[in-house]
Amino acid sequence: RRPVSLPRLAQMRAAGEKITMLTAYDATFAAVADAAGVECILVGDSLGMVCQGLPSTVGVTLATMVYHTESVARGLHRVQGTSWLVADLPYGTYAESREQALRSACALMQAGAHMVKIEGGGWITPTVEFLVQRGIPVCGHLGLTPQTVHALGGYRVQGKSDTAARTLRQHAHELEQAGAAMLVLEMVPAALAAEITTELQHCHTIGIGAGKGTAGQVLVLHDMLGMNLGKMPKFVHNFMQDAGSVRGAIEAYVHAVKEGRFPDDALHAW
Ligand code: KIV
Ligand code: NA
Repeated sequence: RRPVSLPRLAQMRAAGEKITMLTAYDATFAAVADAAGVECILVGDSLGMVCQGLPSTVGVTLATMVYHTESVARGLHRVQGTSWLVADLPYGTYAESREQALRSACALMQAGAHMVKIEGGGWITPTVEFLVQRGIPVCGHLGLTPQTVHALGGYRVQGKSDTAARTLRQHAHELEQAGAAMLVLEMVPAALAAEITTELQHCHTIGIGAGKGTAGQVLVLHDMLGMNLGKMPKFVHNFMQDAGSVRGAIEAYVHAVKEGRFPDDALHAW
């Protein structure tokens, strides 16, 4: 297999093949996910909850993200993995200035990331452009943005009203114009996510709790293996249940996404 690259992802999109993404936080799980055929591995700041036992992603630092990104990158290197490695810019490491965002992004790239993910819309567009112009691939993240959970009033569906949907759509277009090559849409109505997906040409949408109309799907690894210390989100399917192994569960996820069987419409009440 050849390494997954931006041109390869664009090819998949053009061919109508769904892009699969899963989180991983350590070398071994990253290597297993890679072998199971996911194209993209996300070192998500969800590691705050999954690995560190934090109440939200707000407490995750850049040093912690670097540590886990290095671990994942080493795991992939060890098995000659081909996955596209995305790492989250954590809370408080990009909002101060474009320069701060660049410094933080460089730390993640030097830890082995191929792309950085950044939450938010509107105000963040010039920052995204600044990074992209400097050769750093950027993934946006709209809808439910967990780093702003306290401002949002909880982990709830976003973009439900006409006004909220219009703003979200506009932010998505602005991110594409700024050069974002990927965009996570989290907990937004399926129809809105599908509409944005069709409208964006060069920016591939990756949905989580956003219906099946996106260019790709992402889940938190531990969630889809049936392990969650809190409340399991409604949009998650336990792929471990019918699989004999972690590798088997991830393969089942990849196949289900590719064949359009996940997410199921019944998983979405919004
Ligand atoms: O941190 C994370 O795991 C994420 C995904 C859920 C998109 O941002
Ligand atoms: Na995240």
